[in-house]
Formats: sequence, structure tokens, C-alpha cells
Amino acid sequence: MSYDVDVAVIGGGPGGYYAAIKAAQMGAKVALVEKNKVGGTCLNVGCIPTKVLLSCVSVLDSVKEGADFGVNVGDYSVDVAGIQKRKAGVVNGLVGGVAALLKKNKVELIEGLGTLADKNTVVIGDRKLTAKNIILATGSEPAVIPIPGLEIGGNVWTSNEALAFEKVPASMVIIGAGAIGLEFGYTFARLGCEVTVVEFMPQILPAADTETAKELQKHLKKAGMKFMLSAQVTSAEDIEGGKRVHIKAGEKEKTVDCEVVLMAVGRKAVKNGLGLEEVGVKFDERGRIVETNEYMQTSVPNIYAIGDVTTGPMLAHVAWSEAIVAVDHIMGQPKFKKDYSTIPACVYTHPEQASVGMTEAQAREKYGDDVVIGKFGFGHNGKALGMGGAVGFIKVISEKKYGAVLGCHMVGPHVTDLITEMAVAKRNELTVDEVIATIHPHPTLAEVVQEATMDTLGCAIHK
Ligand code: NAI
Repeated sequence: MSYDVDVAVIGGGPGGYYAAIKAAQMGAKVALVEKNKVGGTCLNVGCIPTKVLLSCVSVLDSVKEGADFGVNVGDYSVDVAGIQKRKAGVVNGLVGGVAALLKKNKVELIEGLGTLADKNTVVIGDRKLTAKNIILATGSEPAVIPIPGLEIGGNVWTSNEALAFEKVPASMVIIGAGAIGLEFGYTFARLGCEVTVVEFMPQILPAADTETAKELQKHLKKAGMKFMLSAQVTSAEDIEGGKRVHIKAGEKEKTVDCEVVLMAVGRKAVKNGLGLEEVGVKFDERGRIVETNEYMQTSVPNIYAIGDVTTGPMLAHVAWSEAIVAVDHIMGQPKFKKDYSTIPACVYTHPEQASVGMTEAQAREKYGDDVVIGKFGFGHNGKALGMGGAVGFIKVISEKKYGAVLGCHMVGPHVTDLITEMAVAKRNELTVDEVIATIHPHPTLAEVVQEATMDTLGCAIHK
């Protein structure tokens, strides 16, 4: 049987566009179906625009601290329209870049909602596209929890509304201290908003290494954010100019008045209109496609699923890695299997937070007293001291017998760039000796990685 294309990809976010380009590069005839703009959440309303906002805030902080560097700055002010213009410029440039890459690789871009009619047919409006293989990459959208008085709209925001802010609110309650809650909290706090973050669990970034999460929280507090942990928003009511938010923390009940409430309680898969039921692709109650195997095949073998629509971690870089696994398999050249053991996770506040591999608690559960911890602070690093913001530390977790790197957790300047070294170490089962023996350039922040690793053997030089 002949098909219109070898591979039809539904969804043009990081998972989908990456898969489409890769399949085309490997010689497949490819169509990509997208109902909105290519680039998906990441480029349009996620990773990239939030990082632009954080960069704007970073410039503001540099201006404020100019005198410490011998640079006296005159009057300055924040221009929200200017911030939005920069954000739009970067986003539009990247979205245009992805469209150009698709074109260059001869991927047909079909605009519209793609629905599965059967296991080899995608319907887009009047058009029926047949495909030998289909990759579902429809992504996710903000999850909303039903809290009385907090229906999204007006002064109750998700990350989508927060990105489009037209003025800096005077005060904000953020529900959820995950990456989204913290990054927006930091952005608005530095722009002068009074931010209170309410988190259900006893620590911010509940999945993170506890010591590292506490260190980050300490610095975010210094930056102006307030936190209520082990606390839950139960309801809210309208007051003049905003909301009165009711919060339950243990036995105590408190209220916080604010202009805006931001709900940052996770994301949910986008599967509506996709027709999963009709073709028998299995999904769970949150709409996530379950049962992708090691090559990202769903319960229907020629239909693959990658990215946020699956049950894996909702991160653009995970979607990229899954795209490679799925496309290599489709093209008959399987190289890698799905592997979630080494996923770097990053938070782009100042200081930044980054981690890979086991937390200390996870390592102790598996290796007991054989766990070895090495730590080194940015306060002892020449490059960091010169730059300013020499706070935080790097913590390396290894085990006694072979010195294998089990995990690494970082808080400090540019740690989202430094974590990759330890991801390579973890992925390739390197030992601490192998990391230490690698010559690290001086002066760099990367020396802190080396010194923290040396500290697992008790031989850090500058400690
Ligand atoms: P998340 O699931 O990471 O965090 C949500 C937080 O809300 C959790 O800590 C949870 O305990 C808390 N929570 C849930 N219900 C609550 C309630 N009723 N009251 C108080 N707290 C409550 O979700 P988030 O931050 O919205 O991010 C969604 C996804 O996007 C995640 O997978 C995240 O990793 C990803 N993301 C990644 C970024 C990055 O890599 N820098 C940036 C932004 C998002």
C-alpha cells in the first residue's frame, strides 16, 4: 500500500518539529500538522518567553548593582511595553526560524487540527492525509484546579496570561512552587510586585534534592519572594482591586490579599480532538498517552507518541530525546532507547538551580552508608566573585565502591549551563576520578564542578 507520506507528525512543538526535521534528514517524506504556531509551548508560551523575561529582570538587577562594579547609572525605569516587545521579537524570530528549517528540509507544513481517522489516516479539515507512521506530539496546556473563587480570567492567571502582562501587579499569590511558580515569582518580585508563593508540599521544587531546594529558597527570599509551605489555597473571594485568598497551613487558616493570583500547579496533556479513542491508543484520566514502549510506540505500533502528551517528564529536552528515539526506530536505525535516568532539570531564577540523577535521599535509600557527598561553594570561585552573585554551591553525590557519579545538584550562577558536564558523567557512568582528571579551564565557574567532585574524596584544594 502506498501512503501520501512516510511520517505524519501531529503537533509542531519541540517534540514534533524536531521529529519532522530529523525524519526528513534521514530521507523520509514528512508532513507536520499544526493548529497554531510552530514552536509549540516552548517557543510561544513557555521556555523561551519566560527566559526573555528573566533576562530583562537580570538587566534591571545589573543596573541596580552597577555602582558595585564602578559603573554609575543615571535614572532608569521599567518599560513593560519594551519588555513585551523584546519577548515578541525573540519568540517571532525563533518561530520563523523553525518554519524556515521545516521548509529547507522539505517538510510539508499543514495548518489545522489533525484528527486520527484510523491508524494510517490523519484528517485536517477537508484533507485526508495517509501516512505509514504517525507521531503524536500534541503537547500540554496549563492545568487548572477547581478552587472556589479562582476561575481563570481577569485577575486569575495561568502562565499564559502571566506572559502577556501589561503592567506589573502590586501583589500576587502564586499557587505552586514548581519551576513555573518560581520563575514567574522571581520575575514579578524583581519587577517590584509583592509575591507570595503557596506550596502544598513541605519544600519548594518538591522533587528536588532537599538541601539544594532550601538553598534556592533562601536566596529567593532575599530577592523578595515570600513562601508558605505545606499550605493549600482553599478558596478566594473578590475584594476591591483583587482577591482575598484563603490558605490552610496545617491547623492554621490565613488570608492573603493580592491583585493577581497565578495558578502554577502543573500542566496537562492536550489530546482533545485527536481521536485516540477511535484508533485505540490508550490514555489515562489526565489525557496522557500511556504505554509508550522503549521506542515511543503507543499501543498501536505504527503510532508513536513523544513529549508532554506522554507520561514522561514535561520538558522540551526530553521531547527532543524522545523524537530521536522514535524517528530512528521508524527509519529502521534504532540507536537509543527511551531512558529517563539522566534528565537534567533546570530552574532559571537568579541564582539558578540545576540537577541531574539521584537526590541525596534517593541515593541513601539505595546505597545507605556507602553514599559520598562532595560540596563546593561559588563563594570560593574567582570567576564567580568577579561577576557578582557568587552564591550557592554544587553538590556531587557518588558511591564509595567505584566512585560512580550518582547525581549532582547545583544552585548558583549559570548552573543551568554547568549541569551538562555532570549529565555526561552520569549518562556514561564516569567515576569521580574521571571527572577530576579532566582539565577544567581557569578561571571558570566549571572549576566548582571539579572542586565539588574532588570534595567527594576529601581533596578539594580551595576549600
Ligand atoms: P510542577 O508540577 O512542577 O509544580 C507544581 C507545584 O504545585 C508542585 O510543587 C505541587 O506540589 C504544587 N501544587 C499543586 N497543587 C497545589 C495546591 N492546591 N496548593 C499548593 N500547591 C499546589 O508544575 P509547574 O511548575 O506548573 O510546571 C509544569 C511543567 O512544566 C513541569 O513538568 C515543569 O518541569 C515544566 N517546566 C519546566 C521549566 C524549566 O525547565 N525551567 C519551566 C517551566 C515549566
